[in-house]
Amino acid sequence: MAEEQQETSAERAKRKAGGYHMGGVESVISVEQVVAQTRAIAEEVPIEKLAALANNDPFVEIKDLKAGYGKMEILHDLNLQVAKGQSLCLIGPNGAGKSTILHSIYGFTNIFSGSIEIGPADNRQNVTKLSPNQKLMKAGIAYILQDKSIFPDMTVEENLWMGGFLMDTPTKAREAAERVFAKYDRLAQRRTHKAKVLSGGERRLLEISRALVMDPEVLLVDEPSIGLEPRFIDMVFEILDDLQHGEGKTIIMVEQNAKKGLEFADIGYVLVSGELAIAGKGDELLENPEVGRLFLGG
Ligand SMILES: Nc1ncnc2c1ncn2[C@@H]1O[C@H](COP(=O)(O)OP(=O)(O)OP(=O)(O)O)[C@@H](O)[C@H]1O
Ligand SMILES: [Mg+2]
Repeated sequence: MAEEQQETSAERAKRKAGGYHMGGVESVISVEQVVAQTRAIAEEVPIEKLAALANNDPFVEIKDLKAGYGKMEILHDLNLQVAKGQSLCLIGPNGAGKSTILHSIYGFTNIFSGSIEIGPADNRQNVTKLSPNQKLMKAGIAYILQDKSIFPDMTVEENLWMGGFLMDTPTKAREAAERVFAKYDRLAQRRTHKAKVLSGGERRLLEISRALVMDPEVLLVDEPSIGLEPRFIDMVFEILDDLQHGEGKTIIMVEQNAKKGLEFADIGYVLVSGELAIAGKGDELLENPEVGRLFLGG
């Protein structure tokens, strides 16, 4: 079952330190080189283009955001727009600020200026200053955490109940958990198992499901495929596809597997050094030779 285990942070750091494999061993290039080359292909991205990609009807809109950690600014005047029921995938070199965008939407960063709004044009909410709990309760934004978010010694169903901890009563959380179990038989069959005995793919399913207990409108997903073997990667993308196209959820994801991410997403943004370098439809970025050379391994 070794191949089903999730990648540890040490393994991940080692892989990342290894740079990007551009074909043969000879052509591995460092993260610094990827950053420099991404900067070299960066385009002017007018706000009108972002609006058009979101069908001129954004449901999540980030305007001129400056945000970071402590006093350090990581995102510089970042703009992002995604329509209801659309998916957007962020790609870019390590350290570009992709996760920081998700953190900012969810309320984990310091926001120096700019705004984050959510909702249809006639019912906009400015959520810039809301705490993560308020984001989940009031704005319907869920952040799908990785790895360490699962409680290994709790059962699958106890983990799901935890997903409803913000609900008024435990009964409501349990009812919500049952709705999720009704959808994912694979989890329902394992409801009394301890989470630690789940395979990597099942654990990822539990992580996603737990976020669904609150029935969010917007899902923020950081590297859904990381550490999973191919058949589980496909399973995760099928689940996300159903959530987007079957349930109308809006999805903003970061994906190291840029090919998978861009094949999945309606919109792709390439980010470098906390700024937007390229924006386009997922298909367009897949066909962009420079994006291909730098991020698609070919
Ligand atoms: N909690 C934090 N405190 C301080 N700095 C942070 C924190 N998290 C990230 N950073 C810094 O912010 C920058 C952007 O990091 P971020 O995690 O957003 O990059 P990323 O594009 O998601 O990269 P990766 O592909 O490696 O996940 C990096 O320089 C990183 O060191
Ligand atoms: Mg990241």
